[in-house]
Amino acid sequence: MTILAIETSCDETSAAVVRNGEILSNAVSSQVELHAEYGGVVPELAAREHLKNLLLVARTALNDAKVSADQLDAVAATQGPGLPMALLVGLKAAQAVAFALRKPFVGIHHHEAHLYSPWISGNPPVADFSKFQPNVSLIVSGGHTMLVLVESELKHRVLGSTIDDAAGECFDKTGKMMGLAYPAGPEIDRLAEQGNPKVFDFPRPLLHDTSDDFSFSGLKTSVRYFLRDNPALLDDSQKIRDLCASVQAAIVEVLVAKTIRAAKRNGVRCVTASGGVTCNRALRHELALACKKNGFALQLAEKSLCTDNAAMIGILAERKLMHGIPSSALDEDIKPGWELA
Ligand code: KG4
Ligand code: ZN
Repeated sequence: MTILAIETSCDETSAAVVRNGEILSNAVSSQVELHAEYGGVVPELAAREHLKNLLLVARTALNDAKVSADQLDAVAATQGPGLPMALLVGLKAAQAVAFALRKPFVGIHHHEAHLYSPWISGNPPVADFSKFQPNVSLIVSGGHTMLVLVESELKHRVLGSTIDDAAGECFDKTGKMMGLAYPAGPEIDRLAEQGNPKVFDFPRPLLHDTSDDFSFSGLKTSVRYFLRDNPALLDDSQKIRDLCASVQAAIVEVLVAKTIRAAKRNGVRCVTASGGVTCNRALRHELALACKKNGFALQLAEKSLCTDNAAMIGILAERKLMHGIPSSALDEDIKPGWELA
């Protein structure tokens, strides 16, 4: 089965071609520089950029895959959640292509797709579901932080999610307070490498709470007050590195401890993680250590597939069609607030 998939839920315009679990191409055009000027994603600009770039990105995906439109068996797109106007661009384009080719269209839940991206690996990248086992999956991005129990393929249950800011948002906003450019997550990761995480002590919100929910706004506020009371600290580059390491350590400790606890409680033997923050080296390292210590297998999404991409949308669409799940209607609307069940 050959599928063209489109992802435009936030600030990445992406198109991919997948065939029988293999990623034949995965073209991604990031808008990060455009939004950096404003310190965050501007929805109107994101939608305009998607409109401008989607055709080119989709053509690139087809060319890279050496696949022509008439070889496609289905077309998929992210239906939600995400920025309404951004979603609309990708969804309507995909439905139009499906209509023109008289092929099925599959609307995909963005987070459900994240659940399966850790199973894609290799060169060329292939989704290997023969290795699949029940798992607790951490999805951690700029907009979302959640733990999901994936009982079997296509069967999942959300265990908990953030009650306020997402972990990526916490990275980005605390970094902004330190004067780092948007998105600050990768820069904090880089600076923290040469910093001491024990120099400053920040709260670990909900670390000992029995729920699987997260909260990062208190941590963000405590960094704000700390910088208000110690403004001179930002003149010292080593102190900034220590600050980055200390903030990162607080976020990572909460993410890792709660993921491991959820995995133990639910009796699974495997942990997976995806989403932009999964690029973070400390998170990858600490998750690996904790999984080893507790006897869990760990499937981390490859860095190129942690951030938003159409490959994961195509892989999930293919699995759904293979499992006999009916395709979506061609006039289905976007679902900007679609909750993962
Ligand atoms: O999944 P993603 O590309 O977009 C969505 O939010 O949907 O995630 C972007 C987020 C941003 O908050 C960014 O700062 C964060 O992922 N991020 C990182 C790293 N790379 C990306 N955070 C910490 N360390 C990183 N290396
Ligand atoms: Zn995402």
